[in-house]
Formats: sequence, C-alpha cells, structure tokens
Amino acid sequence: MVRKLVLDVDTGSDDAVAIMFAALHPDLDLLGVTTVNGNVPLVHTTDNSLRVLDFIGRSDVAVHPGLARPIVRHGFPAPKRFSRDSDRDMHGTELPLPPPVSKPHEVGAAEYLVRTARELPGEVTLVPVGPLSNIAAALALAPDLVELVPEVVIMGGAHHFGNETPAAEFNIWADPEAADMVLSAGFPKVTLVPLDATHKALVSTADVERLRALGTPAGEAAAKLVEKRIAAYAVAGEAARPDAAPVHDALCTAYLVRPEVIGTRPVHVTVETRGDRTVGRTVMDLRSGSTTPPNCDVAFDADAALFNQLLLTVFARRA
Ligand code: BDR
Ligand code: CA
Repeated sequence: MVRKLVLDVDTGSDDAVAIMFAALHPDLDLLGVTTVNGNVPLVHTTDNSLRVLDFIGRSDVAVHPGLARPIVRHGFPAPKRFSRDSDRDMHGTELPLPPPVSKPHEVGAAEYLVRTARELPGEVTLVPVGPLSNIAAALALAPDLVELVPEVVIMGGAHHFGNETPAAEFNIWADPEAADMVLSAGFPKVTLVPLDATHKALVSTADVERLRALGTPAGEAAAKLVEKRIAAYAVAGEAARPDAAPVHDALCTAYLVRPEVIGTRPVHVTVETRGDRTVGRTVMDLRSGSTTPPNCDVAFDADAALFNQLLLTVFARRA
C-alpha cells in the first residue's frame, strides 16, 4: 500500500535527503512539499527544495511556500549555535546543487495542507521536519485538520540533550508556540523523532562513499550533502563520532516505510514556551507512575544499519 504524504521542510541538508527519500521510494507518494522559515530564510528553504526536486527529476512535485516567521514571536529565528556559511554550518544558505528551473507554487503552504487533507480525508500523513509554523497555521485555518490527518511524523524535540540550546532542539525552539499548538491539537497519532533517536542513526564517511558509488543523481546529492554535514559536525564536535553525522529529517521518511527503524514509547510531551533558559524544551513525562495520558509516540532508539541500508537502496533509484 503506497503511503501518501506531504513533507513540510526548512531545506537544509538533511531536509534535502528526506525530500529525495520521499520522492524516490516506491512505497511513498509525495503529494507536495511545503516550506517554512528555519535553517535558512523562507526564500532559501523554498529555493533549496526546488533545487533538490529538479536535480533528481521530480519537478512534478510542487513546492508551496509557507510562513516566513514564527506564529507568535517576532523576528526570523535562525540557528544561533553557528554562523551561516561558516565551517560549522551543516546546511549553508544555498545547497550545493544547481539553481532550480522550477518555480514555487502560487498556493501557500497552510492553504495547500488544508485543501489536500480535505480532498483526501484520512489518507495523508503530514511529515514536518522543520519549525512547526505551517502546521500551526493550517490548524488555525482549519481546526478540523486533526480529524482529516491520520498521523503526523515530526522531526523535533530532545530529552537527553538539546542542540540549539542545552534545553531545546532547533525545530521546536524556532517556533515553540507552534509546536505547543501541534502537540496539543489532538491528532490521532503523533510520532515524534527527537535528537535522542536521530543521533543513534549516524551516517559515516564509509556510507557516503557507498552512496557516491551508486552513480545516480540522488546518490551523488546525498553523498555531497552528508559529507558537508560530517565536516560541520566534526568542527562543532556535535556528533558522537568524528567521521559521521546524524541526518535527522530522513529518519522520519525511513520510518514511514520501515517503522522498525526507530524504537518508540508512548509519552506525554509538552513544550516550554516561557522559560528564559528552557524555551523550546520538549518536556517528556517519563515518570513510571505518571497518570498523564500520552499524546505522542516518541522515538528513543534507532537502527543505524537499517537506516543506511534504506538510504542506499532508495538512492540507487532514478525518477
Ligand atoms: C533539525 O534542525 C535542522 O537543523 C535540521 O534540518 C533538523 O530538522 C535538527 O535539530
Ligand atoms: Ca529540517
């Protein structure tokens, strides 16, 4: 059974790998891509998404630009832990791919998300792997979205350690009110893939060489993008190994086709939106005697070997 999805991205390097995975895997039907401000400003997350789809021959997938800033906070929160285009920047303003030929779709992200969910009730999985501003905006447009979407798979959050701050992971930190809205909206199934899982699914330089050896556009792009990530993580010391890096967002698309690639447990998760030092923290109630009903399936484990095998298999394909 082919699974329909919409990917909501702030393309960046790992978003790009997730887009290629969703666009090329035979068990997935990527209906559209929606873009949001995050790793880089909206104009670049949109341009980068178009670059990826053009490069792998999937220009038929439309890219719908969304929110250029968070739903409540002012400003355009960008990662603060590294300066853009520095050697610690695992994304870069523009991805290392040819500029796009395709143009953004004229229908905006929130409108597109609502229309698609209404046209295909119960059939479309939402996969946001950036700040949750577009999903929150879609909920504000159509609160009935929670009855139309069977599952939301979110790359975001952290329990053991943050990345943007000691307390918070970037996607949640960049728009905490949006994340709080989405996690408390009442979607029937929310699968949260936090840093605790993505840092257990590292992709190494040896894996990069195997991707490059595929000789396909996706293999070439994935190798280039992950190589950039490994180099930036090595400088920043953010990964457990100097020769590997997490590819956070792609773990969400891998989960859609092989759920066993992550290990989850039901947890009640809320988002801190006020604390000066803790804003954006996903507060996970892991107490054994907790009586708070879980609202998410949270991934705390991942199978790196299976994840890399899936990347290799899907990126051997051409559109
Ligand atoms: C998340 O933040 C971004 O840098 C990545 O694209 C990923 O979605 C990881 O914290
Ligand atoms: Ca992302």
